[in-house]
Amino acid sequence: MSFFTLRLAEGGVELLDQRLLPREERYLLLKTGEEIARAIEEMAVRGAPAIGIAAAMGVAVELARTRDENLAEALARVCARLRATRPTAVNLTWALGCVQGELRGMLDAGAAPDEVREAARALAQRLHDEDVAVCRAIGDAGAPLVPEGSQVLTHCNAGALATAGYGTALGVVRSAAREHRVRRVLASETRPFLQGSRLTAWELTRDQIPVTLITDSMAGALMRRGEVDLVVVGADRIAANGDVANKIGTYSLAVLARAHDIPFYVAAPLSTVDLATPHGGEIPIEERAPEEVLTFGGRPIAPEGVGALNPAFDVTPADLVTAIVTEGGVVRPPLGPGLARLISR
Ligand code: MRU
Repeated sequence: MSFFTLRLAEGGVELLDQRLLPREERYLLLKTGEEIARAIEEMAVRGAPAIGIAAAMGVAVELARTRDENLAEALARVCARLRATRPTAVNLTWALGCVQGELRGMLDAGAAPDEVREAARALAQRLHDEDVAVCRAIGDAGAPLVPEGSQVLTHCNAGALATAGYGTALGVVRSAAREHRVRRVLASETRPFLQGSRLTAWELTRDQIPVTLITDSMAGALMRRGEVDLVVVGADRIAANGDVANKIGTYSLAVLARAHDIPFYVAAPLSTVDLATPHGGEIPIEERAPEEVLTFGGRPIAPEGVGALNPAFDVTPADLVTAIVTEGGVVRPPLGPGLARLISR
């Protein structure tokens, strides 16, 4: 790949500032847990797996600058701060749970401070590397679902920019494109943050995969004209019954896909499945600032004083999902039992 999303560097975490794309490719060097928490809140880094990994790296850099006697307190504090940044993506809680559990255990067992700091770095690096491998496995598992010559509709950005590399939904696209199955990707622009136009279009262009931008409202008409062969999206959290939380607008696409008899696939790592959440109604949905909706490129697009709603995610009921593509293989309905079986393996 010609770019990276985030990495552990000397003295901090280096990450591509996604707020500036596609105009500018600028890497930030973040040196504290707090700086990383802000980068997640302000979406310099975003996408469920990527924010989990950024958070794990945040713990490592925070412990690296903490005095020996304060390590336990700093671990609890930085994990709580990072966990509170964005509520919907379960990968964030999952990654922090792995890191905090392991490091807390070491501290309780009396491990030397430098050993704990080293372990924090190694854990963050491992989560990063495993995510790339998982995404490749998801991509390869999903590629056969893409018939030759397909026009693939995707929403938001579930690509290399949303993961440690390769992507989930765009992982499927990448693997299918390698087998020359993709005629083109239709990227919906994804109002209000424009992950589709700014990020998906950018990374696919970088990889020379043909991509055409559409506004969110065009999807139904294109489906009716026979110009969409399948939809593939990512997920921020999948409930135990297979309901899927993903970027706002995903649910509308699933309804449209069902109405036009088009397969609707979700591509996600098993770490996105939250067996503790029985159904989608219990998934917390982040509500972001109305300004994101009321402005465009920093300029107001509505009269002063008008309010706006800005739920960042919606829930697609399991019965609208044709299959979920994971690193363990493709799960078809009934999704709940299929996911539980894969996770218990
Ligand atoms: O608000 P974002 O940009 O973090 O939302 C991202 C999505 O909705 C993605 O589809 C999801 O996180 C999966 S990323 C592999």
